[in-house]
Amino acid sequence: MAQIVASCQQMMMVKPPVSASSSRMMINSSAVVFGANAKTNSFSMLSSASCIASVKPLLSCNITSKPSKSDKVITREMCQSTESKPILPGLPIDLRGKRAFIAGIADDNGYGWAIAKSLAAAGAEILVGTWVPAMNIFETSLRRGKFDASRVLPDGSLLKITKVYPLDAVFDNPEDVPQDINANRRYAGYSNWTVQEVAECVKKDFGTIDILVHSLANGPEVSKPLLETSRKGYLAAISASSYSFVSLLKQFVPIMNPGGATLSLTHVASTRIIPGYGGGMSSAKAALESDTRVLAFEAGRRYKVRVNTISAGALGSRAAKAIGFVDTMIEYSINNAPLQKELAADEVGNAAAFLLSPLSSAITGSVVYVDNGLNAMGVAVDSPVFGDLYITKGD
Ligand code: NAI
Repeated sequence: MAQIVASCQQMMMVKPPVSASSSRMMINSSAVVFGANAKTNSFSMLSSASCIASVKPLLSCNITSKPSKSDKVITREMCQSTESKPILPGLPIDLRGKRAFIAGIADDNGYGWAIAKSLAAAGAEILVGTWVPAMNIFETSLRRGKFDASRVLPDGSLLKITKVYPLDAVFDNPEDVPQDINANRRYAGYSNWTVQEVAECVKKDFGTIDILVHSLANGPEVSKPLLETSRKGYLAAISASSYSFVSLLKQFVPIMNPGGATLSLTHVASTRIIPGYGGGMSSAKAALESDTRVLAFEAGRRYKVRVNTISAGALGSRAAKAIGFVDTMIEYSINNAPLQKELAADEVGNAAAFLLSPLSSAITGSVVYVDNGLNAMGVAVDSPVFGDLYITKGD
């Protein structure tokens, strides 16, 4: 899997009053901003914050300033401002003025990317946490426009990512990081990437967030049956795929605004036997779903924050392809699900946008299936035993 890292960098801060025209500024290497009019934007550096390790010229856009609670002034993009958008008729998902942190994006194939696009289309500002070993290639690809075609939003504008933070969600704080990781060349040059440090950086940079998405999983022994999984492999799957969600909530919920919402991605293997989804990954997803309920209670009572998870159908993401049989699962779903179509990542993105919006303000502690209904089936209707029985026909 591609890999990278970057140091935590605060957004550059400017003092008020700063007019939109006078506040063009350069975005540092972790503050990746991709404006729709990026080609015509110029940039200049105003100031840098203490944890900036390097500054590379990237795309830029106009930035103005807004006082935060701490009397500091946080940069804000005008080119992606949605405040001037008209109120839409009907019952729109409106996330204007909301800020989302999405953990687990390293390319434009996965669910995290699709969720980022849906949230951005609804008006949210997007921050991303990218696995340290994948940072370099992700940032480079973004900067070089490799993802431009898939950045297009429904209104024709492009997905903008305000900042990319290096993150390794299996480490809660620097004391947890073993020597071999610190010495690993894929982590060299990056800092402040443990969960606690990333949350601190986001707080320093932006003050608060409204939305937290966990779209990551890792099971080093996923291709082994559970009976052959080692203790180390099993615990690694749990650590990366479910405790990481607990850890993210622990660190981020305190900086979430009341009324905020969190979301993770789970898999039907949590409750049904899916041979091939091994290495403790089925156990990790079961834990994630159970934790969703407990965390919904705790975060709801204490912080008025909601916690849900989407049980998504098969998608040919980088992680799923690494498991090896995702194409078979996609075909199986088309043959057997109530809705006979390939699931698009956008369909999960749009359901996520709803679950992360005020429209779902009474939904918490839920596992929501977005899988063309496959989870509801009790038999595989394409089994030869059904032959030509009329019940297996769709019409
Ligand atoms: P993906 O490859 O786009 O996303 C997985 C991400 O996890 C990658 O960006 C990877 O860099 C990141 N990651 C791995 N270890 C990490 C760590 N220690 N710290 C931070 N990031 C780390 O693949 P996909 O499939 O979109 O996965 C997203 C979520 O969706 C996962 O929870 C997955 O289990 C879930 N899901 C995926 C399905 C599929 O068929 N693709 C089906 C159901 C659920």
